[in-house]
Amino acid sequence: MAFDVTKVRAAYPALADGYAYLDGAAGTQLPESVIDAISGAQRAGLGNSGGAFPASSRSDLITAECRAAVADLAGGTSAGVILGPSMTTLTFRLANALAAGWGPADEVVVTRLDHDANVRPWVLAAASAGATIRWAEVDLPAGELPAGQFAELVSGRTRLVAVTAASNVIGTRPDVAAITAIARAAGALSYVDGVHATPHGPTDMRALGADFYATSAYKWSGPHIGAVVADPALLESIRPDKVAPAPDAVPDRFEQGTLPFADLAGVTAAVDHLAGLADAASGTRRERLLAAMAAAQEHEEQLAGVLLGGLAAMPHVTMYGHARDRTATAYFTVAGRTPRQVAEHLAARRINVWDGDNYAWELTGALGIRDAGSAVRAGLVHYNDREDVDRLLAAVAELGGRD
Ligand SMILES: Cc1ncc(COP(=O)(O)O)c(C=O)c1O
Repeated sequence: MAFDVTKVRAAYPALADGYAYLDGAAGTQLPESVIDAISGAQRAGLGNSGGAFPASSRSDLITAECRAAVADLAGGTSAGVILGPSMTTLTFRLANALAAGWGPADEVVVTRLDHDANVRPWVLAAASAGATIRWAEVDLPAGELPAGQFAELVSGRTRLVAVTAASNVIGTRPDVAAITAIARAAGALSYVDGVHATPHGPTDMRALGADFYATSAYKWSGPHIGAVVADPALLESIRPDKVAPAPDAVPDRFEQGTLPFADLAGVTAAVDHLAGLADAASGTRRERLLAAMAAAQEHEEQLAGVLLGGLAAMPHVTMYGHARDRTATAYFTVAGRTPRQVAEHLAARRINVWDGDNYAWELTGALGIRDAGSAVRAGLVHYNDREDVDRLLAAVAELGGRD
């Protein structure tokens, strides 16, 4: 499958500003088609949902199309796609709703690999229900999340297992299918955080065994919208807080207030953009997505070899995590510099990276680096090219041997 990164980059107006955008793990740029879809929806005229006039029908159509697009991306059902302002918001919402059925005899399993958005909502919800939290530990320094430990952690008391499909800092992709199988066998639900994983390859939430699959469109070329995908029958069994007149149907009852319709049009355009990333002209959108995301993954992995190998070869660089299966995400420190100083040095050379814990709160604590500013994250997405990587490596190399 052809993956033409020059052509892909040309679709993104922001990439023409001369910066190396290695900050994609914190949010990607938007292609022109997504920007057009958002402004086009506004230009056409939008109304609130459920009205008798065309502008309202346009908004309802946009919402339906958005659910279908997210379902295609995740491999789920459009009637089970909950939309909202962010993955964090939706996770708190679901945690609170689920915890209404928990009590002191119940347990919830979370991991120290996860972004805090898939930890704290469960920890707080469990505390309010009097339920017990059990922690899955990361095997350091490799950064693996051994699936075997879940057999010890999960029991008939477990109500839910929350696990990430990929670490947003060290990139580790745990064996989610094995973990969710353990949860299911014990009668527990699984909540899989796909926010970091989704942009880095094909997604099949059924193959992952995820009861809930969470993702965020701004990590895959869309606007700031979060989504959680689940079986509609499962959602029927959950009663979230809602105002009395709001729809009681699934998935609407999970969507508090009015949806940002123009942005939802952008989410659909982002999924269509991903489906067109490689030259897969035929097939359903789901089939094209699987092929295109596989091609994007291959492109990222080739570059990741250069990025990770280049950084690891520098004596003044310390790398965190080297899991067997990982996304193209590097997390590192430089001797004698704080992560912020490194990020400033790189910004001065027109390279965007993140410094800090990136909300991988438990992991940076376990690594013992959180109090010192954690580390620097350089993450690749499909629109990064060899020049981005070479520029980063040259700029980090400059920091060697100076102090
Ligand atoms: C792995 C992971 N999970 C969850 C989140 C939170 O997503 P949102 O910003 O949509 O709440 C992020 C954001 O960086 C993330 O990287």
